[in-house]
Amino acid sequence: MTTPRYILGIDTSCDDTGVGIVELLPNGEVAVRANSIYSQVVHTQYGGVMPELASREHVERIDTVMDLALEQAGLMVGDLDAVAATSGPGLVGALLVGLMYGKGLSQALSLPFYATHHLEGHIFAAASDSQLAPPYLALVVSGGHTHLFDVAQPGEYRLLGATRDDAAGEAFDKVARLAGLGYPGGPAISAAAAQGNPKGVTFREPLLGQTGYDFSFSGLKTAALLASRAGAAPADLAASFQAVAVKHLLRVTRRAAESLGRSVVVVSGGVAANSALREAFAASGLTAVFPAAGLNTDNGAMIALAGAAAIKAGRASSDRADSAVAYAPLANV
Ligand code: KG4
Ligand code: ZN
Repeated sequence: MTTPRYILGIDTSCDDTGVGIVELLPNGEVAVRANSIYSQVVHTQYGGVMPELASREHVERIDTVMDLALEQAGLMVGDLDAVAATSGPGLVGALLVGLMYGKGLSQALSLPFYATHHLEGHIFAAASDSQLAPPYLALVVSGGHTHLFDVAQPGEYRLLGATRDDAAGEAFDKVARLAGLGYPGGPAISAAAAQGNPKGVTFREPLLGQTGYDFSFSGLKTAALLASRAGAAPADLAASFQAVAVKHLLRVTRRAAESLGRSVVVVSGGVAANSALREAFAASGLTAVFPAAGLNTDNGAMIALAGAAAIKAGRASSDRADSAVAYAPLANV
């Protein structure tokens, strides 16, 4: 079989319907040709994602998102050579929509199908650059995940640490809500923080004495709630919370880099869009690699990038009987 050229990627793991297309070039480089996303707005009124509504919205939107992706890439469906779709972790009802869409398409067009781990997608959103070879650390910070991996070899993921409670993005969302700053909270905190004093509210950095590489955000959330009740200004609360959250993420990552002798860290997931986090990592002495614009939060292109990496590594395509899973550790491949 000739090497696939155009790879379709689908992600419907949460509240974004994402379809992307990448091109695997003869020199081994991978170029993003399309990244079409519909971000569901129906959840805004609830201040969080409603799983049943998310599934229904994916069903209603996926065809349009797919058509837009083909249009962006200037391709017809028959030009596609392989299909990748997220099989987990995520909301099962939501995952099933993109997974079955991808499986159906690959079946109809007789294309190889790659069931893809959502976190591998986040990592490859930043790590697809052929200049970036392991070893490196990968920090995935999103609404559902806060995971630190060591990637010693391609496809080898060793989990060094993870959040013990809330994910980093979840904490941004919850603090934004209690400060009355709106949803999704990450961008709202970031905007409000620009007007606030990062020393205005005192937070104690979590897990300072630990010997491992875990993260914790629920204590900060409680401290934010108490400060808010005591009358802290929302902008100061946002600036101070953002500063301590970034400090915590950087301290744990830097300590892991030092003890493992790593100098490069890939930072991805929705929270990697945060400009204070980007500045802190850029000034840290580590070489921090971030996804390109549009690839931080959930999207289909990152799944296509992970699919391209699987193809380049010569991985076998998936069994079409693979199903959606709510929780799945990122296993070595
Ligand atoms: O990767 P993502 O789209 O979804 C998950 O897989 O969870 O991440 C969404 C999360 C949300 O919690 C959102 O508040 C956060 O990423 N986020 C941010 C920023 N933009 C999005 N957090 C901090 N600063 C931002 N600029
Ligand atoms: Zn995600």
